[in-house]
Amino acid sequence: MNILGIETSCDETAAAVVRDGREVLSNVVYTQIPLHRPYGGVVPEIASRAHVEKITQVVKSAMDGQDVDAVAVTYGPGLSPALIVGLNAAKGLALSLGVDLIAINHIEAHLHTPFLYDRGETPPCPDPSELYPSLGLAISGGHTNWFDIAGAGEYTTIGQTLDDAAGEAFDKASKLLGLGYPGGPRVDKIAKAYLAANGGSTKGMIPFPKGRPRDGVSALAGLPAELCVSFSGLKTALLRHVQRNPDLQNPDPALQDADPSQIDPNSHLACVIASYQEAIVQAVADRTRTALRRRGYKAFVLGGGVSLNSRLRAVLSEVASEARIPLLMAKPRYCGDNGAMIAGLAYTRRNISGGAALAVDVAPSLEVG
Ligand code: KG4
Ligand code: ZN
Repeated sequence: MNILGIETSCDETAAAVVRDGREVLSNVVYTQIPLHRPYGGVVPEIASRAHVEKITQVVKSAMDGQDVDAVAVTYGPGLSPALIVGLNAAKGLALSLGVDLIAINHIEAHLHTPFLYDRGETPPCPDPSELYPSLGLAISGGHTNWFDIAGAGEYTTIGQTLDDAAGEAFDKASKLLGLGYPGGPRVDKIAKAYLAANGGSTKGMIPFPKGRPRDGVSALAGLPAELCVSFSGLKTALLRHVQRNPDLQNPDPALQDADPSQIDPNSHLACVIASYQEAIVQAVADRTRTALRRRGYKAFVLGGGVSLNSRLRAVLSEVASEARIPLLMAKPRYCGDNGAMIAGLAYTRRNISGGAALAVDVAPSLEVG
């Protein structure tokens, strides 16, 4: 069964056709990052307009030469004016093709990405159904959530961030240090060069706080502190560090567009960036270790834009191997927002959603589960 997946929840206009939930037959992503870069973040109005301009072309090229048996679309969470564009396009297309529409949760779809593979490849891992219970971590610009995945669609949030998502923490630090938008990939590159210049050692790093919330704070909303993170203390620590160090103030505006490899890996700036990334990575690794000790999981499934981070991938691989379970991560091209994850997850939901999705509205604050 071929499903067309459409994704417009944020700043990527994306569509893909996926066979039987896993084999990606086509995958088209138009990224709006250059449009939002001058503003240092995603501007909803600009996102919506760009989706309107690009959606027809993106969907057409994803569908080129493919038979489509159903249409799937993200209906939340995300930016309302952006979600509306994809949802309306998908409704119109499902009606005109005479096929079912399947409405999909964007965060759940990120956790499907490790199961995707390209046309003709051997599947990289068993089907999700053979790996329950799994521990899931969705880590992106909007989310940092740990899920107990007991079965298809049976997600329970067991831990989360109390404030910023990890991606947001990367992006804000990058902005503060004058490194441009989006921050995650730039921080990753600079930190990688720092680690390489220091023989992989973290010894010279600045000991930024590792984001462990205090027990009993109301923001935990009943979740255990040992499975939650808070990045507000880390951000404040970075700000204080910048205020104490004039060499980090008034960054050269040219840095915003410069290739991050131009930054000296032995500089104070590179050390600050690598230390900040390390604090995020170790906070996430620590909560993951705790989660893995609480239940005998068969697999650890990672998804979301921040799962592209090279240091996070390396450290979480160690965490999973300590627990003697596989870490399932997507290929880089499926880590950021894409239509293949929507089409892939929809295959497992095809009997639940179906034609009823034609009545669905966008759900900007949609939760998982
Ligand atoms: O999943 P995604 O594409 O969109 C959301 O659903 O939010 O994630 C985008 C986030 C951004 O905050 C971006 O800075 C971050 O993922 N990101 C990274 C890396 N690549 C993208 N963060 C850290 N390291 C990276 N290599
Ligand atoms: Zn996403």
